[in-house]
Amino acid sequence: MSHHGQMHAQAEVGLRPDSPALPGPESGEQYRGSAWGRLPATGLRSRHSALSSTQRQTWDRLWPELGIDALAGSPRRGPVDTRAWFGRDAPLVLEIGCGSGTSTLAMAQAEPQLDVIAVEIYRRGLAQLLCAIDSTNVTNIRLIRGNGIDVLKDLVTSNSLSGVRVFFPDPWPKARHHKRRLLQPATFALVADRLIAGGVLHAATDHPGYAEHIAAAGDAEPRLARADPRTETLPISIVRPTTKYETKAHDAGSAVSELVWRKPKSDD
Ligand SMILES: C[S@@+](CC[C@H](N)C(=O)[O-])C[C@H]1O[C@@H](n2cnc3c(N)ncnc32)[C@H](O)[C@@H]1O
Repeated sequence: MSHHGQMHAQAEVGLRPDSPALPGPESGEQYRGSAWGRLPATGLRSRHSALSSTQRQTWDRLWPELGIDALAGSPRRGPVDTRAWFGRDAPLVLEIGCGSGTSTLAMAQAEPQLDVIAVEIYRRGLAQLLCAIDSTNVTNIRLIRGNGIDVLKDLVTSNSLSGVRVFFPDPWPKARHHKRRLLQPATFALVADRLIAGGVLHAATDHPGYAEHIAAAGDAEPRLARADPRTETLPISIVRPTTKYETKAHDAGSAVSELVWRKPKSDD
């Protein structure tokens, strides 16, 4: 089985006991209408997560201060007051699908001048990130448990983000599942609205088909322009650490595509 076949099996069967379950194709809930067109499904559910006792203790101690629960069914809330939450006014970056937060932590440490919000459905991943924050005393990360699309739509205001990061989103390789992919034209439209002028969307994937799909969707969004980090100065770094996930992709011979767009300023 190819590497992507393995990833496919992971995405569909769900190796993790608390991985999100998407509604089946028959449910008709993959998309819904919105001001941004057809956004990917937000009917993600998260099953019970088994946390270790250390993770649970850290969660109980730190989540009330550093985390927000925005899963479907949580009390509805408006946009987050990030200034109050971080205790300062700094450029804001949102990472969707942070997994266990390896990149989140390293990138937040490398750019202490930025405030970083990590969004993930997978509770144990968030608990691992909380434990890492605890042991490193990093102060510029906050966490939201929920669907990144809902978070962008309901908790983030227009023109507020300096960066959006999406690293190795689930590729959903089967054609009939492509509509479940996180990065769709409607997602780019929503991200374009939430970015400040000059803000950056940085995506990375090791799946060639998804890379093409992402490139086409991003290039079709009129409020975004491809950025070349080698020649342009960007407000956020696009240097990522190599995660365990990425090492596996390299070992399997998959090339990683880095896709970067910028929301042009009016004087660009
Ligand atoms: C393949 S993993 C990559 C994790 C991490 N970014 C990395 O590079 O190691 C994709 C992650 O995205 C999360 N995810 C998928 N759809 C999501 C959504 N709509 N909102 C938030 N997280 C999502 C999954 O739970 C999973 O942890």
